[in-house]
Amino acid sequence: MDFFDAVESRRSVRKYLPEPVPREVIDRALSAALLAPNSSNLQPWEIFLVSSPEKRGAMVTACLDQTAAATAAELLVFTARTDTWRRNRAYLLKALQESGGAPDMILKYYNEIVPLMYAHGWLNALGWLKKIVFSIVGIFRPVPRGPFSNAEVKSVLSKTVALACQNFMLAIAAQGYATCPMEGFDPCRVKKILGLGRKSIVVMVIAVGRANPEGIYGPRLRLDPELFLFEV
Ligand SMILES: Cc1cc2nc3c(=O)[nH]c(=O)nc-3n(C[C@H](O)[C@H](O)[C@H](O)COP(=O)(O)O)c2cc1C
Repeated sequence: MDFFDAVESRRSVRKYLPEPVPREVIDRALSAALLAPNSSNLQPWEIFLVSSPEKRGAMVTACLDQTAAATAAELLVFTARTDTWRRNRAYLLKALQESGGAPDMILKYYNEIVPLMYAHGWLNALGWLKKIVFSIVGIFRPVPRGPFSNAEVKSVLSKTVALACQNFMLAIAAQGYATCPMEGFDPCRVKKILGLGRKSIVVMVIAVGRANPEGIYGPRLRLDPELFLFEV
């Protein structure tokens, strides 16, 4: 399917036909998800395909019994980790080294700037210090205005994982199947089902299946682009 066909035909489908989705379809879409652009290429995502029947049942309940979750052939949980940046940075630096070495600028970025972005210290002490310093320097020149707290890091990570979600959903659409992204779920329960700790953030649950025409609740509704598009 052409890119624009996939974008234009994708809808959030809330009811699916009782038909399996071939594993190759899911795997191809997962590969597309992992190609999403991501902050500092630190690839903070963890994506779970829920295949155990018990976990699946519990996930439907955790998704507030939404029909999309209950009737989907597959359920996937897209999460982010706040702590894998150190591990992934080491892998990235090793890969760069093996491919002929990284320029000093890249090494400086990963060794100095990235920790400054992600580390906040005990009780966010470093985060507050960074905020004060950057706010003062920012009076005189442009500076980054965050992340200065764990909550701001979570926002950075959620942006990245949302892009992976979109790649995934478009790749599913391009293969003739449908999805429904969901934020209507209980994240505490989802984390418990998946055995995730406090370093994980549940960004989205995505239902996948063959669309039941009744699962499209109405024509695509978008507001006047003039409300949203600006040229300055
Ligand atoms: C982050 C996010 C969370 C969403 N959560 C839900 C949800 O919990 N349940 C649901 O039925 N749809 C959910 N949706 C789907 C939206 O309602 C849908 O994308 C929107 O109405 C536009 O329709 P379309 O996707 O068919 O173009 C969510 C979409 C996004 C992007």
